[in-house]
Amino acid sequence: MYQVRNVTDEILWIGASDRRLALFENIFPIPRGVSYNSYVLLDEKTVLLDTVDASVSGQFFENLEYALGDRNLDYLVVNHMEPDHCAMIGDIVHRYPEVKVVGNAKTFGMMKQFFGTDFAERAITVKEGDTLETGSHTLHFVMAPMVHWPEAMVTYDAKDKVLFSADGFGSFGALNGNIFADEVDFDRDWLDDARRYYTNIVGKYGASVQALLKKAAGLDIAVICPLHGPIWRENLGYILEKYQKWSTYEAEDKAVVIMYASMYGDTASAADALAGALAERGLKKIAVYDVSNTHVSELISEIFRASHLVFAAPTYNGGIYPVMENLLNDMKALAVQKKTVALMENGTWAAMTAKQMREKLAELKDVTVLDTQITIKSAMLADQKKELDELADAIMETI
Ligand code: FEO
Repeated sequence: MYQVRNVTDEILWIGASDRRLALFENIFPIPRGVSYNSYVLLDEKTVLLDTVDASVSGQFFENLEYALGDRNLDYLVVNHMEPDHCAMIGDIVHRYPEVKVVGNAKTFGMMKQFFGTDFAERAITVKEGDTLETGSHTLHFVMAPMVHWPEAMVTYDAKDKVLFSADGFGSFGALNGNIFADEVDFDRDWLDDARRYYTNIVGKYGASVQALLKKAAGLDIAVICPLHGPIWRENLGYILEKYQKWSTYEAEDKAVVIMYASMYGDTASAADALAGALAERGLKKIAVYDVSNTHVSELISEIFRASHLVFAAPTYNGGIYPVMENLLNDMKALAVQKKTVALMENGTWAAMTAKQMREKLAELKDVTVLDTQITIKSAMLADQKKELDELADAIMETI
């Protein structure tokens, strides 16, 4: 059965959700599924804006056929060439032999790489500022390199004031009939997945997102149509403010997130003791995570959210405990910045991981690591309560 909803009178959402996929990009757990959004503009000419992942192709074509009715497809605009959106380009060309494919020079270069053809006989190559008249609508093409790939662009429909924002403003999570952010409790049910999507997928490219936000500020936008997750047609300031913070690496919350790795529970116990000491000093909404059984993408999301981080880990083979090292490496890969960090280390005979973590954190921009730190020898005993209090005080002084 087709599932199509109107975004405006002439723009339809024809996307589909996958609730079976376990790992997005074969890395990120998506227990709430994911949607692949695709849109059709029905003007004097018909336009499809991006396709979908192969896994939902059946639903997508049912939706597209319903949306078009007995009309042909005139244009396919390709805003992004990652396969979760471009997988159906070949099938579209096969089904609609007269369709023209619109992309930029890099788009067609990637088509050749993925499909062995750049569809030259039907390609329309656009660059920054180019437009496409479709009747009463004019589509404006705005390049958005590295949001999230080099070829990424966004398309703006000046008539309905709709921005087709590619990966920008996307989120993990299947759409459950409610395709608009104002139809769901976004803050309660979607924000964590939107942050996890942004920080892990696009997080490294904050400067590129800033460049796109500046371009977007020059457009009169009423609706934001991303390629994943809910569409924004109300309260755009909410998500724009989140993107402003995330892309400049500013914390959303003045908050402490404690992340520990612990082989036998002793480092965990010390981390919990620190959380308790902070709570006694009046700190609220403290978060504590076991790095070994929390997916690194959730930790990255929390790291972007919070102003203050604590890393606690045992020394392992003379180095950093592997899951903690993986997290620190991921922080560097995603260009995490502007944090205050405290360290706790454990070592039964030669604790040295705080020094090693400190060296890794020194590679990050604007990250302050407190001088006060705790070394545990096997287990934190009551005689270290003074050190615990000193670390808690040092953290509180910076909040
Ligand atoms: Fe959902 Fe960068 O693609």
